[in-house]
Amino acid sequence: MVSYKPEARSQKPEARSQKLMIKAIRGTRDLLPPDTALWNFVEAAVRDVFRAYNFQEIRTPIFEETQLFARSVGEETDIVSKEMYTWEDKARSFPEWALELLDRVQGTLGGSKLEALNYIASSRAEIEADRWKAQSLTLRPENTAGVVRAYIEHKLWDRGLNKLYYIGPQFRRERPQKGRYRQFYQIGAEVIGPPTAGSESPARDAEVLELLATLLDRLGIENWTLQLNSIGCSNDRAKYNDALRKALEPVAAEMCADCQRRAVTNPLRVFDCKVPEDQPIIEKLPRISQYLDEPCRKHFEEVQAILKSVGVEFHLNDRLVRGLDYYTRTAFEFTHGALGAQNAILGGGRYDGLSESLGGPSAPGIGFAIGEDRLVLALKQSAEAVQVKPDVYIAPLGTGMDREAARLARELRRHDIVVELGDENFRLKKSFETATKAGARYILIVGENEVKAGAFTLKHLESGEQVSVPRSELAKRIQTGR
Ligand code: HAM
Repeated sequence: MVSYKPEARSQKPEARSQKLMIKAIRGTRDLLPPDTALWNFVEAAVRDVFRAYNFQEIRTPIFEETQLFARSVGEETDIVSKEMYTWEDKARSFPEWALELLDRVQGTLGGSKLEALNYIASSRAEIEADRWKAQSLTLRPENTAGVVRAYIEHKLWDRGLNKLYYIGPQFRRERPQKGRYRQFYQIGAEVIGPPTAGSESPARDAEVLELLATLLDRLGIENWTLQLNSIGCSNDRAKYNDALRKALEPVAAEMCADCQRRAVTNPLRVFDCKVPEDQPIIEKLPRISQYLDEPCRKHFEEVQAILKSVGVEFHLNDRLVRGLDYYTRTAFEFTHGALGAQNAILGGGRYDGLSESLGGPSAPGIGFAIGEDRLVLALKQSAEAVQVKPDVYIAPLGTGMDREAARLARELRRHDIVVELGDENFRLKKSFETATKAGARYILIVGENEVKAGAFTLKHLESGEQVSVPRSELAKRIQTGR
């Protein structure tokens, strides 16, 4: 690893101040108020919907072993081959290594001498083995792999069917543009469990898709289109890959370098190609829908039948193969017209073989991830409209009144009233201006006379209506005026 070096001091002060100005990394951004109100609005609605469908939250680490993504998302995918933030994590330093050994030795002192000796010998061998080993780690580019790893690691099959959701940042080194960032946020869910828990059933697929339709409706997002496909099981895929290889053989030489490689190693990934000149060739390739076996066809028909019965519209698109290797059977994307080039607001599908490919038991699953950045872009609401504004601005008037105002603020906040607290050094005019700027509904004047009388002047800022309210009735009065 390259270590941090302090910056050399520049002679010229302007040059120095320019150097000191550190900006956010390209493709990352600060989410600031009032926009964060929109993000909170979305997340609150999402949590409500997940609750109604009996999903529970899971949080997995932001970085994992690189191999996890290579083995699940796939070596040939754009994500793994071009877009991951990967680094070699330092090997253990000598002091770290020695401390760990001492800890382990200490841990054996309560047992018999033989036990302790055996334990020390095996610990020593283990620590020696990876003493100098650096580990390749990667910032997660997506969360399905982490969830399935956690499923296996914690034997979550004991819980039967797991319905899990997550909200959090993901990292991909893509070219930044509107709706595409290097740190972006996903709201995702995974339904996974042993086949005996019903994890393979088309009812799961349909429920997940219906949840998504409900969620988008609930957020007031219109004009979305559900693109639906089945990309079959591993048997179908083998037959389809053969057909693709055959079809690509005579034309691959005319395609881009990536496609030429994919045509041999993983022909399905040819569909991820964005090179315009390759598109007419790709358009003529065989379609997966012709290669589905009977059980896959039936499964897909049942997903469609349930969707029709619950009234969720969809468009069949047998070119939709998704850019990750773990998918089987149902694959889908929701697109939204207002998003421009990055119009996929979410994507997902089944991954019936993923657990096994990571060394776990059979655990069919289906899930999705919504691009939260894109979801927020598609919202009709303005941040202003969903922002929480103070119910009341307390204006302390005169020396010593900060203390009284603080007591009142504490009382009112206990009643769940949103309070903004002023400053006794402000003149009344400045307090009014500050209260108006903060968007407060009321201003409450706290002066010596009011404190003595135990009644306070409460003024509605928009209507100008002003009343004197006894301390004990303040909370009620402010709440009813909401
Ligand atoms: P994905 O299609 O790679 O699927 O990503 C899902 C969504 O994340 C996309 O539809 C898009 O809205 C958003 N997204 C992806 N990359 C970016 C980016 N660079 N900037 C902004 N938004 C982005 C997955 O990640 C799968 N793990 C989904 C899944 C879950 N499949 C099964 N379970």
